[in-house]
Amino acid sequence: MNGVTQHKLSCENLLRIDDLSDDDLAAILARARWFAECLTAKKPVPPSLAGRTQINLFFEDSTRTNLSFDLAGKKLGADVINVPVAASSVNKDEDILDTVQTLDAMGADVMILRTRDPRAHERLSQRTRCPVINAGNGTIEHPTQALLDAATLTRTFGTLNGLTIAICGDVRHSRVAGSGVQLFQRLGATVRFVAPDDLLPDRELFADTERFSTLETGLDGADVVMALRLQRERMENPPPIEAYISEFRLDHDRLDLAKDGAKVMHPGPMNRGIEITASLADDKARSLVLDQVFMGVATRMAVLDQLIV
Ligand code: CP
Repeated sequence: MNGVTQHKLSCENLLRIDDLSDDDLAAILARARWFAECLTAKKPVPPSLAGRTQINLFFEDSTRTNLSFDLAGKKLGADVINVPVAASSVNKDEDILDTVQTLDAMGADVMILRTRDPRAHERLSQRTRCPVINAGNGTIEHPTQALLDAATLTRTFGTLNGLTIAICGDVRHSRVAGSGVQLFQRLGATVRFVAPDDLLPDRELFADTERFSTLETGLDGADVVMALRLQRERMENPPPIEAYISEFRLDHDRLDLAKDGAKVMHPGPMNRGIEITASLADDKARSLVLDQVFMGVATRMAVLDQLIV
């Protein structure tokens, strides 16, 4: 697939990585790359969502996901509505189901939904006419983040096949890791988790993923190191910050434990100085953080364009 032609995704909703076939994955990555070239060259793209209404409904804070879906929809010609949840009738104890069905009845053609509740998307998508895209559900999945990370790696390395990707830090509470590990393994990468024991997922989850409890062991031979924020808002007992920094903060010296020229990623939001040093995050030769943000727009364009055909 060259990305110039539009493919129709096989799923009705995009709630999880497993909703996508191998052909869907190839088509999204190819189309994202093509959209990225168009965006870089400031070339117009086909307005495939003209006349369509996209509703962004975020029950949890967001900068990257909300605004890149907003921009992606607008680039494709959609009418985009960002629901101001804090000023909506949710504050009058309206059930989320009624909010979603109300927006659906207004003529939404696609709804981008972020919730704290990991089960909400499944339930709500069964009650809407329009497709639903999961923009993050609790600690479980964030499929478009995994897709944009894969698109960033494909652009940087040509392929994920054969790469070793070390996902470091608070894996346990990370929906980015949840979707990422599934997608990266499907695309041929080896994925490792590197974290203190209490920040690793339960043993029965991702049972075929190697686990390391120190950066010294876990980064050896890695092509890519992904840092994750401590998601303290999802923890009952957050770890002492100084001990975490001393053992797990990524810096240039620690990245040198990985392969020569290894790249560092971070899905954001970053807590500078805690899971990653500012100088490493800002080092354009080593850090893909802003490439991820850029590919987030192109990848979300590719998803919208091929889901709403
Ligand atoms: N990576 C990510 O989901 O960031 P936001 O929470 O800012 O959307």
